[in-house]
Amino acid sequence: MASDLWEKVKKRFRNTVMENTETGNLVQSKESRERINRSKSFEQNIDWTDLEKYFTKDIEADKTGELRNRFLNELVRLLDNYLQLEHKRTSKVLDFHHPHQLKEIMEHCLIIDKDPKSLEEVLSDCKETLKYCVKTGKLSFLLVDILGFLTSCLLGLDIVGIAGDMLTSVADTNMFTYEVAPVFTLIEDTVLTKMLGYIGWYDGEGMFAPGGAISNLYGMLTARHKRFPSVKYTGMSSKGDIVIFTSEQSHFSINKAAMLLGIGQDNVIAVDCESNGKMKADILRTKIKHSIATNRFL
Ligand SMILES: Cc1ncc(COP(=O)(O)O)c(C=O)c1O
Repeated sequence: MASDLWEKVKKRFRNTVMENTETGNLVQSKESRERINRSKSFEQNIDWTDLEKYFTKDIEADKTGELRNRFLNELVRLLDNYLQLEHKRTSKVLDFHHPHQLKEIMEHCLIIDKDPKSLEEVLSDCKETLKYCVKTGKLSFLLVDILGFLTSCLLGLDIVGIAGDMLTSVADTNMFTYEVAPVFTLIEDTVLTKMLGYIGWYDGEGMFAPGGAISNLYGMLTARHKRFPSVKYTGMSSKGDIVIFTSEQSHFSINKAAMLLGIGQDNVIAVDCESNGKMKADILRTKIKHSIATNRFL
C-alpha cells in the first residue's frame, strides 16, 4: 500500500516537476506545451522596448524619478506574474534542463563583461532567471510528506516576509552599531528576546546565523569557549585532543565545523541513535568513559 502510494507520488513528481529528464531529451509533452502556453498569457503585456536605451546610470541621473519608477514597477509586475504562476496548480515546479543545456539557454544572461546591460536586458535576465528556477512556493503542497527535509527547508513564500526582505534590501543597513542601525538593532533585540523565550531563557543573548551549517559551527565554538575559554588566547595546541559527541544522524556540517575549529574530524565521535533519532544514552555514557580513560578531553 505504502509502496503503491510512493510509486504514484514518484510518477506525479516526475510528470510535473522534471518532465523528460530521464532521457535527457527535452521534447515537450503535450501537457507541458499547453502549460507553457498558458503561462505565456501572463507575459502578453510585457513591452520593455523603451527601456533598451537606458542603463543604471540613467536611473541615477534622472532627477524626476520616473525612470526608477518605471523600472521598479516593471520588476514588481514581473515578480507578481511569477507569484501568480506559482499559485496555479497546473504550472511546473521546475522547468528542468541539464546544466549544459541551461547554460546554452541562458548564455546571454551569464555574461560578465565591461559593457553595461540596458534596463530592458536586466528585466529580461530577471524574467529568464525566474523562469528556470525552482518554484519553491509550490513545493509546499506538491512535496508534502515526500521529501520532508525539503519542505522544511523551502516552506514557500510569505508575502509579508517578502515585504520585509525588500525593505531590508532598500534600507541596505549595516548592523555593526546602534548609531548605524538604530531601528534594526531594536528589531533584532525584540526578535531575539522572543526566540530566547521559546526555549525558556529570559536573560540571554543571541545572534542570527545565515544557515544551518554556520549555526552548528557557532554552537560548537560557543561550547568549546564555555569548556575551554583559554583556547581563545592560546589556540588548540595547548589543549591536546578535544572530542565531540554527536548523533550518528547528525549533519555533515558537524564534521566540517570540527575541521574549521581545529578539533579535527577524527575527534568527532558518532553515537548510535534510537529509531526516533535520540542518542542512545548508554552508548554515549560508554563512549564518554572510554574517552576519559584514553586521556582525551571532553
Ligand atoms: C541539522 C542540519 N544542520 C545543518 C544543515 C545545513 O544547513 P545550511 O545548508 O543552511 O547551511 C542542515 C540542512 O538541511 C540540517 O538539516
